Amino acid sequence: MRKKIAAGNWKMHTTIEEGVSLATALCQADTASSDRVILCVPFTHLAAVAKALDRQAHIALAAQNLSSQAQGAYTGEVSASMLVSAKVEFVLVGHSERRTLFNEDSAMLRGKIAQALSVGIKVIYCLGEPLEIRQAEAHEAFVLDQLQNDLFHLSEADLANVVIAYEPIWAIGTGLTASPQQAQDMHAFIRASLANQYNQALANDMSILYGGSVKAGNAREIFSQPDVDGGLVGGAALVAEDFAAICASF
Ligand code: PGA
Repeated sequence: MRKKIAAGNWKMHTTIEEGVSLATALCQADTASSDRVILCVPFTHLAAVAKALDRQAHIALAAQNLSSQAQGAYTGEVSASMLVSAKVEFVLVGHSERRTLFNEDSAMLRGKIAQALSVGIKVIYCLGEPLEIRQAEAHEAFVLDQLQNDLFHLSEADLANVVIAYEPIWAIGTGLTASPQQAQDMHAFIRASLANQYNQALANDMSILYGGSVKAGNAREIFSQPDVDGGLVGGAALVAEDFAAICASF
């Protein structure tokens, strides 16, 4: 059965000390209605947050990025095996901020996914359409194209280590949330596309998260949609009580 997941993406926010207090507060909160809580923290925070999460099997550590190369002369990059040594279990790949602000294309995303999976790190693969595509009602074709370019080369065994996060770009950090029905429709479309490309059992087992202005006040309604298996949360993940409430919204 697929898992109910609440993932917090801290982006480029918090000092190490603030990150540790946030993680510590979450360890003390009742987040048990989710199967898995994932904290996507800045590279500088990984070791300290890993320590704060010690023995919290329910809360997993994630990085927000990794290199598409295994090792070498790539100044400033962080490799998949470095993340393993920092006790990272998951990594974000394909976030719209990486795609648009840092020009990450499908070839690079495929490289990053391959690197993560090769060392046993699970991937939270993000996709989603910009506003003009939604307005032109071309969002399903756009998302299918992303799946085909970035993900559908993977084997069934590899896909078992991928979580999908649908994040319509127009809803990220804007306060504009997709309606529960819009989220459900796209999640059902993504699941049907997985069934089409692979098989129904694989599609049924994949967790598909919704991201884009998820808050404590709207999480329950969004998460209650049959094909929504949780959320990838930005802004509201920076406030311990708000994120704890989201984690308890299943
Ligand atoms: P938001 O960000 O919750 O602040 O909209 C979501 C994300 O970018 O993952």
